[in-house]
Formats: sequence, structure tokens, C-alpha cells
Amino acid sequence: MAWTPKQSASLTIESREEPYLTPVLMEKITKDIMPRYATGQGALMTTLHEVQHEYGYISWQAMVEISRVLDITPAQVADVVSFYEDYHSEPVGKYIFGICQSIACEVCGHQAVIDHLKQKLGIDVHETTEDGKFSLLGMECIGSCDNAPCALVNGKQYNKLTISKVDEILSTCSEEK
Ligand code: FES
Repeated sequence: MAWTPKQSASLTIESREEPYLTPVLMEKITKDIMPRYATGQGALMTTLHEVQHEYGYISWQAMVEISRVLDITPAQVADVVSFYEDYHSEPVGKYIFGICQSIACEVCGHQAVIDHLKQKLGIDVHETTEDGKFSLLGMECIGSCDNAPCALVNGKQYNKLTISKVDEILSTCSEEK
């Protein structure tokens, strides 16, 4: 998820009694993942994928738990989670609309696409609809500049976006149960 400035000094870290790293996850991390890497830092991204696959996002508490098992600092975990758009530190919707906002897509009208989605979904960029169905993200270049403006919707790439194409994608998602 791209950078969003926050008042981190007032951020309340959500926590719960039950650990995010369940015995099953712990076994996977310590027996399957860690032996494949020379350092805890090396095993971090694979571990993050595993945790996100389980919960759909990586909570702050999970980051602390991961740091303990990999013997690195929570800051090192948070650095990686906040750097890569593939990782989410908050719950996201069932459908994640990632609109490329880098230069080629910007020149080719990404703003109109974003504005349309904001208006249709009633959310801003980096927000999720109340029903938990859609999240809207701004992404950096997804490597298909000659097809701008582009988007990734749940990892599937859509090229040369127009407002009607966006509406089509939205209605397909809305029809799915
Ligand atoms: S700038 Fe959008 S795909 Fe490269």
C-alpha cells in the first residue's frame, strides 16, 4: 500500500489476547520457511505472505509477533509492510481496485478513473466501503505504461481504462456472490 502520512504518535495499536501466529502458522514459519533463509530478515517477505494469506492483512500485533519469531525488530517488519503495495496493514475489501498513479497513467487520465471510482463507491483512495466489498488504492507503476491508464483488480490487470470499462468491472464484481 502506498505511503499515507499519519499522526503515528496518536496511533492506537490494536491488540488481542489470541496470537496471530497460531501454532499452525508458527510451525510453518519455523519448520518450512526459516530453514530456507540464512537470516530472519531474509525469511520476512515469505512469512508476511503467509500471514496475509491467513488474515487478508497483517495487523500491527502480527508484525510484532513476526519480529519476535524472526529475531528482527518490529520496525524492520513495519518497514517492509509499508513499502510494498502487496501488503496491507489494515483489513481490505473483497475487491481491491489498485489504480496506477505513476507518470504514464497520470498523463493518460488516471485521475478521471479514480474520481469516478471514488464517486461510485463513496470512499477515498486507501479506504474500504462499509460493506467490506471494495477497497480503492493508488499504486505505483505496474509495468504496463504503453497500456495506460491501467489498474490491478485483485491482481488481474486491466489496460486502457475508460469510465465504461470501469463500470463493467464494477458491475461484474457486484454481481459475484
Ligand atoms: S505508469 Fe501506469 S503502468 Fe506504468
